[in-house]
Amino acid sequence: MIVTIANAKGGVAKTTSALFLAMAWTCRRPDSKAVILDADPQSSASLWRDIAEDNGETLGSVDVRPANLSTLQRAVKHPTDGLTVVDAPPQGRLLEAAITPADFVIVPTSDSPLDLQQAWATMNSIPEGKPAAVLIVRAETNTRAYQATIDALDRNRTPRFDTVVRKRQDIKAAMGHKPAKLWEYAQVLAELTEEEQA
Ligand SMILES: Nc1ncnc2c1ncn2[C@@H]1O[C@H](COP(=O)(O)OP(=O)(O)OP(=O)(O)O)[C@@H](O)[C@H]1O
Ligand SMILES: [Mg+2]
Repeated sequence: MIVTIANAKGGVAKTTSALFLAMAWTCRRPDSKAVILDADPQSSASLWRDIAEDNGETLGSVDVRPANLSTLQRAVKHPTDGLTVVDAPPQGRLLEAAITPADFVIVPTSDSPLDLQQAWATMNSIPEGKPAAVLIVRAETNTRAYQATIDALDRNRTPRFDTVVRKRQDIKAAMGHKPAKLWEYAQVLAELTEEEQA
């Protein structure tokens, strides 16, 4: 299965979500592998892996590979048995190339109304018929902004994950490490695979 994480807005936990989802996959299926295709020129997913290795840690069965137009096109022709997560760039041909092979597109957004506008713009740019859903991340569930975000998504019938990833220092501190705990991402993966089988 190929899952692309995309949002035109920066800093909305695309790379973090890619890492945690890939990790959740290998934890649930110890015999299976997960590959992160790092298609973002900022190469944060690769940096995450490199820092972890510098710290003497590995990401286990999660492999991070740099990706370009050619790599992304080959991903469709040569699918792997495990999970492929594409950490997409914010715009351009590479973003299109990251969305084309995807079985599912995840659009992460914070619980800020301004970020939501960008999430909608990204959802609208995804070709019709391509399964996609918004994932609320870094959520502060006791705030008005959170409730307004949920209400706006539901009012507009925007597909969204029921699972919400809360704002957590532990997730923030995971950069450059193998995450010790998957938090809500285990549940996000469960929703994703259920969706895929439906
Ligand atoms: N659930 C969370 N709780 C707290 N902090 C988080 C959470 N998820 C992500 N972050 C933090 O938010 C920041 C942005 O995350 P990340 O780098 O994954 O976003 P991105 O969309 O990949 O950004 P970019 O556009 O630069 O590629 C990072 O500092 C990250 O540690
Ligand atoms: Mg990133």
